Amino acid sequence: MTTARPVYVLNGPNLNMLGLREPEIYGRDTLGDVEAQVRAKAGILGLTVEFRQSNHEGDLVTWIQEARTKACGILLNAGALTHTSVAILDALNAAELPAIEVHLSNVFRRESFRHHSYVSLGSVGVVCGFGVDSYLLALDGLARIVARQSAAHKATA
Ligand code: DQA
Repeated sequence: MTTARPVYVLNGPNLNMLGLREPEIYGRDTLGDVEAQVRAKAGILGLTVEFRQSNHEGDLVTWIQEARTKACGILLNAGALTHTSVAILDALNAAELPAIEVHLSNVFRRESFRHHSYVSLGSVGVVCGFGVDSYLLALDGLARIVARQSAAHKATA
């Protein structure tokens, strides 16, 4: 499968600290390692990737808005903003793209404030608890959705 539009893989606050930050929860891979694995997997799936990280909520909102016309779908690890940001939820709903929520850790095994997600309300599905593999599993899921959408689009064209 090939699609001209990239998958936007967006990472929120503190994910630039991966590898250093609470490795017993998030593992030893850096965000650069995550990006390399995501790009390798995307290559196998015939997808391209736009991979970004910001500590600022507004950047994520702007990038989700940009994705609306430039991406085929979104993988979003919004970090702590997952649990607080109505602005990110609104941007996801406005994007009208398939989005998958991603977390390295199993947020449901952790503090109760991590059990609620605004991002979930704007996402097709959630993958959490598999470390870096959460991103790769989510990419698999998104590739299936995108393939189905483009097959349906061709059938009606
Ligand atoms: C996280 C989980 C969030 O609760 C936390 O605030 C993060 C990382 C994860 O990938 O497990 O920053 O999104």
